Amino acid sequence: MRLIAIFASTVNGMIALSENDRTEWTSREDKRYFKELTTSVGTIIMGRRTYESIGRTLPGRLNVVLTRNPTAYEESESLIFRSSSPEALIEEIEEWGIDQACLIGGARTFADFADRGLVNEIHITLEPTIRNGVTHLATHLKKPVSLALRGIVSLGPSVVMIYDVK
Ligand SMILES: NC(=O)c1ccc[n+]([C@@H]2O[C@H](COP(=O)([O-])OP(=O)(O)OC[C@H]3O[C@@H](n4cnc5c(N)ncnc54)[C@H](OP(=O)(O)O)[C@@H]3O)[C@@H](O)[C@H]2O)c1
Repeated sequence: MRLIAIFASTVNGMIALSENDRTEWTSREDKRYFKELTTSVGTIIMGRRTYESIGRTLPGRLNVVLTRNPTAYEESESLIFRSSSPEALIEEIEEWGIDQACLIGGARTFADFADRGLVNEIHITLEPTIRNGVTHLATHLKKPVSLALRGIVSLGPSVVMIYDVK
């Protein structure tokens, strides 16, 4: 399966500015880019903390949430909870006939997948701000992630850097 990580970052690399950040500091253009990419891919995978920061099921997409307590949540046709290793989750999703998914965060979940070499592509929107924060993309990462630049998309105020993971 092709796994595409998508993040928004300050110019100094922060993806969460506070403990209960709800990513409200990103541009309207980035929110539109996020919606278009994730909707066209169709499946989004996220950690429980990111799910709670969003606070709802994102429509038009299969929402897959990782948590150690999956039975604590109510599922629906487009919202499922799993306590699986990254490898087992990808295997299960592939069994449903799905061949691509977006990993939408957060840093803990990204690190779990990236350290296992399971992330194929990364889209990082750089928002035009330099800010103090609590989490950057590598906060929980154990191994370096080598990237090859595939393209750059200008969103007006922001820029999206698109990388293949080498
Ligand atoms: N700027 C951006 O693009 C962006 C993107 C996403 C998130 N964020 C921000 O990042 C913050 C959240 O990120 P985070 O790194 O703290 O947390 P996170 O990765 O969203 O969630 C971590 C949680 O996911 C669950 N989890 C992850 N892998 C699991 C596995 N293999 N099996 C079972 N459970 C698993 C655990 O939930 P349980 O504790 O329930 O077991 C774990 O505590 C939020 O503030 C959010 O706004 C920013």
